[in-house]
Amino acid sequence: MFISFEGMEGSGKSTALGRLCAALDNRGISHLRTREPGGSDLGKSLRALLLDAGQQIAPEAELFLYLADRAQHVRQVIRPSLEQGRLVLSDRYADSTIVYQGYGRELPVERLFELNQLAVGGLWPDVTVLFDLEPRVGLARARVRNAACGTEVSEGRFEAEALAFHQRVREGYLAWAGRFPGRFRIIDAGRSPEEVYAQVEDALPVLLKLGHY
Ligand code: TYD
Repeated sequence: MFISFEGMEGSGKSTALGRLCAALDNRGISHLRTREPGGSDLGKSLRALLLDAGQQIAPEAELFLYLADRAQHVRQVIRPSLEQGRLVLSDRYADSTIVYQGYGRELPVERLFELNQLAVGGLWPDVTVLFDLEPRVGLARARVRNAACGTEVSEGRFEAEALAFHQRVREGYLAWAGRFPGRFRIIDAGRSPEEVYAQVEDALPVLLKLGHY
């Protein structure tokens, strides 16, 4: 089974994913935690380029770097793990490109869908957990995190974007999720970390809870 985690910066997605992985470990459920960008060897180099706040990258160039990262990630990491019967959990996947490059940067969403299809070779998650959050709250949280890590300058090209961009991202996620109601589970990420995590466990398939892995 393949599960992706989506949402804006500061939505608590990575924290909840960490807790989920610890819970899976406790239950002896074998899984692979991965992320985009940067889930493969090639992807690590691409990630450094993509998240460098000092780089001026044209939206189309950025798009193809994310797609290159994903194409390699699917073939080198995700598909082989699924073929071995492992549960795969990815912090971001193809929906991030549709939403950030499409709704956010305003590149054409339908073309992005087709390009993603090519990049992933038809492999879409079984379930996508979307952490929905008011952009002002997410940006404030992300700022605190960046200041705490001393990464305010070098990290977060997207965190430096205008609030309007993040509003388009939020609306874009909700609109896109509306097209795939069977795959998306939307959770309210504005609550406390405990409540957010509880919603994540509730959102996951019964299969997982019964320990089929
Ligand atoms: P990252 O540092 O991994 O943080 P987080 O996932 O916690 O937000 O940042 C990844 C950034 O890349 C994030 O701002 C969203 C952006 N992104 C895209 O614009 N398109 C994509 O296809 C992907 C995978 C990520």
